[in-house]
Amino acid sequence: MFNEQKFKNNLVTWFDTNQREMPWRETSNPYYIWLSEVMLQQTQVKTVIDYYHRFINRFPTIEDLSNADEEEVLKYWEGLGYYSRARNFHTAIKDVHANHRGQVPTSPQVFGELKGVGPYTQAAVMSIAFNLPLATVDGNVFRVWSRLNNDTKDIKLQSTRKTYEKELQPYVEQDSGTFNQAMMELGALVCTPKNPLCLFCPVQENCEAFEKGTVENLPVKTTKIKKKHVKQHVYIVRNEDNQLLIEKRMQKLLNHMWEFPMYEADEAENINTKLNTNLQFSEVPIYKLKHQFTHITWDIEVYLADKVINKMDVDLPENMTWMHVNEKEMFNFPVSMSKIFKFISTHG
Ligand code: ADE
Repeated sequence: MFNEQKFKNNLVTWFDTNQREMPWRETSNPYYIWLSEVMLQQTQVKTVIDYYHRFINRFPTIEDLSNADEEEVLKYWEGLGYYSRARNFHTAIKDVHANHRGQVPTSPQVFGELKGVGPYTQAAVMSIAFNLPLATVDGNVFRVWSRLNNDTKDIKLQSTRKTYEKELQPYVEQDSGTFNQAMMELGALVCTPKNPLCLFCPVQENCEAFEKGTVENLPVKTTKIKKKHVKQHVYIVRNEDNQLLIEKRMQKLLNHMWEFPMYEADEAENINTKLNTNLQFSEVPIYKLKHQFTHITWDIEVYLADKVINKMDVDLPENMTWMHVNEKEMFNFPVSMSKIFKFISTHG
């Protein structure tokens, strides 16, 4: 029999003594809690900690962040990936500053209307910062709750999220922030996707999947997205002053970030058509790498121009510029480009 009170007590008692230290658990500032929840989406705690500290040192208040320009905000996000998170957060903070007297709204409905705030962020911030009764359902909670109930519903379906939110509602009527974080922490530390530590689980007695031996089959995720692969060619072009040619992206993905000129391999446009030049490139790539996004994988091949070009001989389009190797910090580069930069700066 599922004893609800005992379940919650066991979980929360375990959380009190086993939770990891995280800087955002030491604060009640809703702006910081919100920032941490945005950074933690798709990114592990140990990666987020440094970024979090750097971000709040530079933008300690909602006012500071709302006065910053996007380029600088993205610079503080560089390497974390999923940059639309940063753009949306910045937009939402400006909205809070301009239209909500600089205070994070305490109404879940009003908060939920801000840019980038989906049901997870809404529930996480409202419960952790204000103890409001909303249940968070993230990947960890899907796993924990499906196993506790030996539930085989497809977690990719919106209806499953709605069902879980409803089923978890009784547990968040009080101390919602603690309960939500305890569920997520259990998923991160004990009820892991592979090799879960069931023998150390504080709620093992409530776990139907443990009893039936089905833990590792759950959760069920049927609609696996097949990722599209796109072959990309990157061109490294230098000038007589040993500067590198870079280009600002004007596409939805990684918009406004800088890259070494990159073109899809099966498109007619390439660096020569763009610059009206006749550069020759190494026949084989000097470097290859893969970069994974949620729905797409880039298979990148990097080619080096066979000679330096004279700055005066090319008319650069507005979104291209020359960069000296020691100026990299002045530009926002996505992770894939930083890897290429590292390769070329260590291989002459
Ligand atoms: N994952 C995302 N936010 C979290 C939190 N506040 N506690 C534990 N895990 C999390």
